[in-house]
Amino acid sequence: MQNSPKRFTITAALPYTNGPVHIGHLAGVYVPADIYSRFQRLQGNDVAFVCGSDEHGVPITIKAKKEGITPQQVVNKYHAIIKKSFQEFGITFDNYSRTSAKIHHDTASDFFEKLYEEGKFIEQTTEQFYDQEANQFLADRFIVGTCPKCGFEESYGDQCESCGTSHNATDLINPKSSITGNTPALKETKHWFLPLDQYESWLKEWIVEGHKKDWKSNVYGQCKSWIDDGLRPRAVTRDLDWGIPVPVEGADGKVLYVWFDAPIGYISATKEWAEKEGKDWEPYWKNEDTKMLHFIGKDNIVFHCIIFPSMLKAEGSYILPENVPANEFLNLEGNKISTSKNWAVWLHEYLEDFPNQQDVLRYVLTANAPETKDNDFTWADFQARNNNELVAVFGNFINRVVVLTNKYYNGIVPKPTDLSEVDIKTLSELKAYPKVIESSLERYRFREAQAELMNVARLGNKYLADEEPWKKVKTDEERTKTIMYISLQIAAALAILSEPFLPFTSTKLKNMLCFSELDSESTWNDISNKDVLIPPAHQIGKGDLLFSKIEDGQVQQQLDKLEATKKSNEMMNASPEPQKDTIQFDDFTKLDMRIGTILEAEKMAKTKKLLILKVDTGIDIRTIVSGIAESFSPEEVVGKKVTVLVNLAPRALRGVDSEGMILMTETPDGKLVFLNPDDEKVSNGVSIS
Ligand code: MF3
Ligand code: ZN
Repeated sequence: MQNSPKRFTITAALPYTNGPVHIGHLAGVYVPADIYSRFQRLQGNDVAFVCGSDEHGVPITIKAKKEGITPQQVVNKYHAIIKKSFQEFGITFDNYSRTSAKIHHDTASDFFEKLYEEGKFIEQTTEQFYDQEANQFLADRFIVGTCPKCGFEESYGDQCESCGTSHNATDLINPKSSITGNTPALKETKHWFLPLDQYESWLKEWIVEGHKKDWKSNVYGQCKSWIDDGLRPRAVTRDLDWGIPVPVEGADGKVLYVWFDAPIGYISATKEWAEKEGKDWEPYWKNEDTKMLHFIGKDNIVFHCIIFPSMLKAEGSYILPENVPANEFLNLEGNKISTSKNWAVWLHEYLEDFPNQQDVLRYVLTANAPETKDNDFTWADFQARNNNELVAVFGNFINRVVVLTNKYYNGIVPKPTDLSEVDIKTLSELKAYPKVIESSLERYRFREAQAELMNVARLGNKYLADEEPWKKVKTDEERTKTIMYISLQIAAALAILSEPFLPFTSTKLKNMLCFSELDSESTWNDISNKDVLIPPAHQIGKGDLLFSKIEDGQVQQQLDKLEATKKSNEMMNASPEPQKDTIQFDDFTKLDMRIGTILEAEKMAKTKKLLILKVDTGIDIRTIVSGIAESFSPEEVVGKKVTVLVNLAPRALRGVDSEGMILMTETPDGKLVFLNPDDEKVSNGVSIS
């Protein structure tokens, strides 16, 4: 029996639009949210799955400063990249919006105004950090200092990324401006505060008493400790020039705090979607029978469990989330994923190296999801899970079923005869799986759910291995038909059950089994309720590999890429060598350095590093042996202007006399570069002084 459809509002954290998205984002938030949304749609439920770009806040303005472009240019660039990545990985948002959209500015302004008019804010003039050199207030990430709670030395003004605590900038120990590095001054400024302390007892009742059992323990624990520590009023406005202007008189130069406007982005995204679809948005946010869920990473817990709910409560007409299934963090090869250190696997880069292998990444990230503790992504594990699980278990089962059906019956599903005890047991095990997977999903245990999906393929493999149709086909045609028929039912079940987890594979498999030719396509619940998923006489298609092996070389290439990143980071952080002893001007003039041009270059035989160069020094044309072959090919350097130390005593290198030295330096990733004049008109032979 089908229950009447339930309404779901499913949100996924709006990513900051200051960089592309990486595997950590996917594993922590977007894949689980997508699995859950797809699953609820398969159940026939009414789902609004919304997300969008978080385009305000200090991270965007910092990025803009760094790149020398405007914040709007930053968000336009990354919004496009992020949106495309989500699409490519099959994340089925009903709407992916952005907080610079007019509908969002209006929604957030109205929300603020309503609270303002109803006196829900405290207006207060306080002292805030101010950078006198940069001439601006230092909101949020413009200030760094030691976290008063955990001692992390690079905590931001509003939040510590190490322990997740959210605080006021003035709580930081040893605060520094991240613009100039200066110790900031304090300056008075007026802001609006949400008095969280007034919501404390209500939060206690709602979370501490109400959700002890059903919220994940990591989420519940963080909330409880927050509430136990006592809540204080939080400023919801900032002195900044990027964001949504505070919609009240006398608030020039002030914008809404990004954590005030961004979660309202979920509401705007729902409105925008409803408008396009000709629906009413309000039931998704205001009807008590709607189930609202926020998928987020652990650094967002306090905002989604304490602050945003308090805002909704203050407004008065909204429902609250039923659950906030936050994940912990995913590390990469043992180190914390970091955008600024480029320690990440970027989704757009992954697809360049592993085209059409979205499902492999989705699979590995779910198998290893940081659901209860931080977890590590390694390329070795990625390869092993692909080769030993997707290829060897799932792919192998499907391949055998499809190939044998084509071989024995020209792809026509055979008619079964008497079912044996094993057949009946296998079918009844199969029928139990939808409920098993469902029960894991309803508890937000995506790893467990996906492991059960793989058990369906294992059930199929075991059945084939035990029944050996390839042997029976020679002796017992009728029995073989039954075995193949049952295997085909398992394959069909896999096509349906894999849809939330491996959507591209599911589509491929459905095409292989010609689902679109069926009178009625079976659903998730049909697997338990119906005896036949693909009937006898149905024609299936030809086999096509669902997965392919990942070779050692591909893994090595990824590891090399990370190694290069590590090296380059080390170089960037390395402190420069200390200055050498002082020399006199006379010492300097002893060095005879001239501008020259490389005329010829060839590799020195049997060496890796050395090139033999012919250089026009303006004085003469001479041979110089230079250790640059790992950075340049001979062709690349011919014609280059260089700086040459010409009076260095000649030296034989591998039997070739080298008469001088070419001056070089190095980039952070170890590539050599010439020190050459930046004007090509400088002629050879000119000396350096
Ligand atoms: N942009 C934030 C982050 O990346 C998440 C914002 S979630 C929202 O951590 F609720 F504010 F939208
Ligand atoms: Zn901290």
